[in-house]
Amino acid sequence: MTLLHTDAQPADLRPEPRVVHLRAAGVSLVLHLGADRLPSVLHWGADLGAVDPAVLDDLVRTGETARANNDVDVPQPLSLLPEQSRGWSGTPAVSGSRAGADWTTRFVPTAVTLDERADGGLLEVLADDPDARLGLRIVLELLPSGLLRHRAELTNTATDGPAYEVGQLAPALPLPPVAGEILDLAGRWAKERIPQRRPVVVGAHVRENRRGRTGPDAPLVLAVGTPGFSFRTGEVWAQHVAFSGNHRAVVDRQYTGATVLTGGELLLPGEVRLAPGQSYTTPWVYAAHSAQGLDGVAARFHDHLRARPHHPRTPRPVIVNTWEAVYFDHDLDRLSELARAAAEVGAERYVLDDGWFRHRRDDSAGLGDWYVDEDVWPQGLKPLIDVVTGLGLEFGLWVEPEMVNPDSDLARAHPEWILRPSADRLPLVSRQQQVLDLGNPDAYAHLLGRLDALLSENDISYLKWDHNRDLLEAGSGAGHAPGVHAQTLAVYRLLDELRAAHPGVEIESCSSGGLRVDLEILEHTDRVWGSDCIDPLERQQIQRWTTQVVTPELVGSHVGASPSHTTHRATDLSFRAGTALFASFGIETDITRLDPAERTELAAWVALYKEVRPLLHTGRVVRADVADDSLALHGVVAADGSDGLFAVVQLTTPDLSIPGRLRIPGLLPDVEYELRVQAPGDTPRLRAGDPVPWTVAPVRATGRVLATVGITAPALQPEQLLLLRTTATLSTRSTGPAHAGQD
Ligand code: DGJ
Repeated sequence: MTLLHTDAQPADLRPEPRVVHLRAAGVSLVLHLGADRLPSVLHWGADLGAVDPAVLDDLVRTGETARANNDVDVPQPLSLLPEQSRGWSGTPAVSGSRAGADWTTRFVPTAVTLDERADGGLLEVLADDPDARLGLRIVLELLPSGLLRHRAELTNTATDGPAYEVGQLAPALPLPPVAGEILDLAGRWAKERIPQRRPVVVGAHVRENRRGRTGPDAPLVLAVGTPGFSFRTGEVWAQHVAFSGNHRAVVDRQYTGATVLTGGELLLPGEVRLAPGQSYTTPWVYAAHSAQGLDGVAARFHDHLRARPHHPRTPRPVIVNTWEAVYFDHDLDRLSELARAAAEVGAERYVLDDGWFRHRRDDSAGLGDWYVDEDVWPQGLKPLIDVVTGLGLEFGLWVEPEMVNPDSDLARAHPEWILRPSADRLPLVSRQQQVLDLGNPDAYAHLLGRLDALLSENDISYLKWDHNRDLLEAGSGAGHAPGVHAQTLAVYRLLDELRAAHPGVEIESCSSGGLRVDLEILEHTDRVWGSDCIDPLERQQIQRWTTQVVTPELVGSHVGASPSHTTHRATDLSFRAGTALFASFGIETDITRLDPAERTELAAWVALYKEVRPLLHTGRVVRADVADDSLALHGVVAADGSDGLFAVVQLTTPDLSIPGRLRIPGLLPDVEYELRVQAPGDTPRLRAGDPVPWTVAPVRATGRVLATVGITAPALQPEQLLLLRTTATLSTRSTGPAHAGQD
């Protein structure tokens, strides 16, 4: 750790301002640390290699801007926390006041520490504004994956007087002029993560999430790149705000051309009021640069997630979930039979979904009453758990802890435990439920106690933790002050306390399907549920974009019934299973009602998943750019490049009858592969004619040939999927570096 300067030193002993260069995994971050101003970014992008310090210093001069008419007289560099006092007139990075006073800031660094590492490093800046009586801490870390993350902390350094109300605190990163097009994700229930594009124009592109939870329309990723950037091409700068409450993500371009990528928590009025000495810390904001399109961005997020010490490393079990199999129709015999059928097809974990607790005969009542329903389960859950564990499966249980139905013993006993705008008004009812106020210590303690008791009294290995409504008018405590911030942190704490008390238990984050999907909830849970829509056609898109940030092993995907319960679309089992395969695989249909042939085919898919999950859950996600958007090609290439599994997916009917060649990217260019179809995903229905030759007998090609020439696309019928395996031949197996990522 190098101490670069501190205000404890006399001014003339301070080191000169300097330029630092951090490098990791193909990314360079060059920062200018000024003595009297917050650091600014001189370069965030492709690796510059080892650069001579004198050349680095000249980056300051080559980056100095001209003065624009009508702008401040002395052009100011854009800092990590742009302020009006330094010439920034865009979205404020910091806002707030003490009842209208101290509303503008001018921070000056007091100490800067730099921890340079072989792979990246960490910069910490302490700064002070004695006039506004505020302290600031900025932490910026270049992680070994090449992913950047940064956060800020604001402290009310006054010793007395009124509280400082924080309006906004959002660190920023600059974008270069070539970053001219935005891609982010929107969505809705059962169709999460829909991509949308627009050019960068003067003004702000603002994505605000005011739902009190990560919503279906939360921009899991906000990417800005060279126009036309795609999965495999273009230079991209992308951001993810890791927070499960209200948050915002912004691209802001000023008429001067200065453009920033910024984001943070979205604070409600008066939500964070800092008494003297108190601090507020933003969530982590993650940022990825890629010179190789969106796949390069995904790779940085994936490498980061997989490097975490608590990343799940045991094989991701095949789950059977009871929801779409039986819904609320709980019956020990039927559920035991389902468990036996699950074991027969090879399932490894059995999850009893909604409907097991008191008063929960449908979704209108019972949330909050976390006691096993004595009418439906007179002997408790033990008889079912014994059947499940006796078959060698783990047992999992659905809960929705933060919620309460007005028709529940808990809501009747403790109406004061419900988030509400005032004592005599409740928020609008949604899904017939309200939200418990976890900022209330009694409500929190009650919930922790019930969940702890359930886990202690039953052999439960897994919780599916649901969250099915937005937090509207979420006033907390006796004063009904805005409570989303405290609620979000309380949920994290609750999850952590339970995990500490029951270390073997894994937790899935589910939220009206795939809503609460963000990197901070994944710090406290082990998997996210991708969507309530398990129609494979819709799931192709949902998974394609969810894995933009989250690794496949962390995204739950199940084989459902045909027709699908959400879309009523009928699809082949191979399309459903071949779609769920590229995730954390499960089954969510009444297996007992499948005919013997379907059970046999399902068992074959389960066997394939077990065989290929080490590859799928450690390898590099590849999404090809295809000329015809009726088709998709995606896959996973092993970390050492020796193996690959791809899916050729016919989504809709193509305009052209003969689709031509399909390029297969992501393999090592100089390695020779044997390419063959992979059973059981090898028998899709064809639109016309005979199968193309390579689907009948294996062929050989190098990674370069596959990426640049490609192979003939099979003429699949719509909603069909073909699996394709690429295995390095023995002669060239050892020549390739791991994950070069080249086409
Ligand atoms: C919403 C979830 O997304 C579903 O998977 C299911 O668990 C239901 N809730 C149960 O109410």
